Amino acid sequence: LTSQNGLLELDLRVAEANVLIGGSAVRMLSYNGTVPGPTLHLRPGDRLRVWLRNELGEPTNVHTHGLRVSAVGNGDNPFLRIDPGQTFEYEIDLPDDHPSGVFWYHPHQHGLVADQLFGGLYGAIIVDEDDWSDTAPRVVVVSDVTIAGGSVARVAGVDRMLGRTGETLLTNGLVAPRLAAPSGSEQRLLVINACASRYLDMGLAGLNARLRGLDSGHRDEELVDRVLLVPGNRADLVITTPARPVDLIAAGYDRGQAGMGMMGGPAAMVSDALMLTVTPDASASVPDISPPTPETHPDLRDVTVDGTRTITMQMGMGGGMRFLIDGRAFDPDRVDQQVSIGTVEEWTIRNTSPMDHPFHLHIWPMQIIRAEGAETAELDIRDVVDVPAGSSVVVRIAFDRFPGRTVYHCHILDHEDLGMMGVIEAG
Ligand code: C2O
Ligand code: CU
Ligand code: CU
Repeated sequence: LTSQNGLLELDLRVAEANVLIGGSAVRMLSYNGTVPGPTLHLRPGDRLRVWLRNELGEPTNVHTHGLRVSAVGNGDNPFLRIDPGQTFEYEIDLPDDHPSGVFWYHPHQHGLVADQLFGGLYGAIIVDEDDWSDTAPRVVVVSDVTIAGGSVARVAGVDRMLGRTGETLLTNGLVAPRLAAPSGSEQRLLVINACASRYLDMGLAGLNARLRGLDSGHRDEELVDRVLLVPGNRADLVITTPARPVDLIAAGYDRGQAGMGMMGGPAAMVSDALMLTVTPDASASVPDISPPTPETHPDLRDVTVDGTRTITMQMGMGGGMRFLIDGRAFDPDRVDQQVSIGTVEEWTIRNTSPMDHPFHLHIWPMQIIRAEGAETAELDIRDVVDVPAGSSVVVRIAFDRFPGRTVYHCHILDHEDLGMMGVIEAG
């Protein structure tokens, strides 16, 4: 779906639907009957108008992840609640200088986010200047799901604690699809990690893969043989179609454990999973790859910082495992961070728990300055930053515009639902 004359209008019906997964019908949640939902193509300066009709038996809402838009009013407001049977009109204005890139949308109804996303509610948003039909990159939405008795499996408490991972990896709603193009041709892949909790450690060997960007940040093309996408992250990649089929595998990953200290506890691990197979096919059309996008975010490494703060993600006991930021669980009526528009801040994000937590801030991208035990790239801009167990990451944020209230949270959505979220107000 592409905007016309600066406007994209869209009816988005949130309802249960029967979706074919690996050849059998599965009862899932969907936007407009499909999983993933429709891909939205916008240009900087566009207005997105969405009538979200909630036909679920529970409240929902929609969040445009990564977009640099105002959270005020009926825009991308994570505090809005759309009750069953209601329709809500969203109006989201992209500024004229909105960065191009791949973004996505998903529900943000606190307490239900992981269930609804795991159920099938997610879709891609592409922002660019290009004529969509000519240079369409391949959008690769990766998610995971567990199916039981013809519908999406309910999860146990321990799965919520660890962050649920699905038994089946889905690529654009398909199980291990083939991506065909003539041998030697280049393909541009925009990969979205839309999993509720799974880290995608993508193995790209044999594909001559070049990384062009992560989240809304762009970089000089760099040859890579693996890219880690934590939940919410996106990658802009160009690959060369090999002469023989090559599997793109999400490698097994260990996010740590939900136990305290020496006592250990259940582990959050996944094993290798096949995302897709890149297959040579002389009869397939040659994809058109658009030129790389120059970086548009200011480099914050050498600017004067107006303030610093420390954010601590922690797990603690007390009526079961608790997921906290700075010792507190989410309260929509409490402002946890007050920031001033026009300032640049340096945040140290600490993780004192034995499990990794991907930290997400709405609206304002974060530039990674230092990460414990990791080499950081020249200019690494993310809207979700992984903070491994027992370590910390230093980021800088330019609060350049957009007054109002929004949130920051762990993008393991079960943790967010369990309280690992805070409120930030800019003014
Ligand atoms: Cu992708 Cu606040 O979320
Ligand atoms: Cu978001
Ligand atoms: Cu977490």
